[in-house]
Amino acid sequence: MNTEIIKINRENVDKEKILIAAEIIRSGGLVAFPTETVYGLGADAYNESAVKKIFIAKGRPSDNPLIVHISENIPIMEIVESFPEKAEMLKEKFWPGPLTLILKKNKKIPGVVTGNLDTVAVRMPSHPVAKMLIDLSERAIAAPSANISGKPSPTKPEHVIRDLFGKIDIIIDAGGVDIGLESTVVDLTKNPPVIYRPGKITVRDIESVLGEIALSPLARAELKFENIVALSPGMKYRHYSPDTPLILYEGEKDKIIEKIKNDLEELKRNDKRVGLIIMDENVVSDKTIVFDSWNVEDIAKNIFSALREMDENGLDFILVQGIKDVDLGLAVMNRLRKAASKVIKLND
Ligand code: TXA
Ligand code: MG
Repeated sequence: MNTEIIKINRENVDKEKILIAAEIIRSGGLVAFPTETVYGLGADAYNESAVKKIFIAKGRPSDNPLIVHISENIPIMEIVESFPEKAEMLKEKFWPGPLTLILKKNKKIPGVVTGNLDTVAVRMPSHPVAKMLIDLSERAIAAPSANISGKPSPTKPEHVIRDLFGKIDIIIDAGGVDIGLESTVVDLTKNPPVIYRPGKITVRDIESVLGEIALSPLARAELKFENIVALSPGMKYRHYSPDTPLILYEGEKDKIIEKIKNDLEELKRNDKRVGLIIMDENVVSDKTIVFDSWNVEDIAKNIFSALREMDENGLDFILVQGIKDVDLGLAVMNRLRKAASKVIKLND
């Protein structure tokens, strides 16, 4: 398939170009587009055969439901059966933005979008290109992240090109995204509401609006893969994984650094090529990416990109220094724990 790449300046979005992509959505094609979180792979949410193509292009299991993206101009009641008060409160505070709500589904949404569940995930993105694409398409757009299933989510257009070029109709290239981790997912069909996936909008943010909420074990992602029941379908699948085995170190910072240094030495003695994602400039290896531990926003924005970069260096292992799993740090650690082949905990 011929994939067209449309370059967009996000400061001054060219409506004519987005109209081309909107026409593709309207005629049942697939468009990769930027959102504030990660790039999405979109299709007309009401077109069953178009939505099916998303699963094929990504190699995504069909029981892993998609998020339906709307704008202010798309009536929410065409997506959901009811929009309860708690949803209104969250909408008021966080939409448009990186928050996905699980609600009872409107019958008009085809089962292929929701993995045949009676609930639907819905979100109103804030990225100007995403907004304009939805508005010009004049319909809700079903979209998962625009990566091959199981790979780190795409935060730059080159990630989308790498995974999906030749498999979809259009890639809208508007440069890197702002947040770098996918939206927070909150299930409002449960009482108290349950957070399945932590994101830029934190557990505390949600609590400050709703009061009592529950944090699903999926959100901490500390469950052993084998033990994960399908609490949120799709979250049982392996995620975010670089091809190279990733070892994640958690616990007290000095202990982590010491352990990483020791493990690195031993691996080098065994002629292994080792990549490091670390917050200490004094430790270097075959490929080293350094972050500042205090700048969690920067880590969130660049972590998926770092994982992809590691895969391009012919490494045997990637060692990653974990960060504190609070607020946005929890969202980062959720992704890293899911990406890891092994987690080493150094708590005393
Ligand atoms: O930021 C984001 O959310 C990005 C951008 C493109 O909007 N999208 C995204 O989609 O991350 P995806 O498909 O990669 O992740 C959607 C998550 C999956 O883990 C899926 O299982 C869960 O939401 N989900 C969707 N519908 C659900 C439902 N009805 N019940 C429970 N979980 C659901
Ligand atoms: Mg995804």
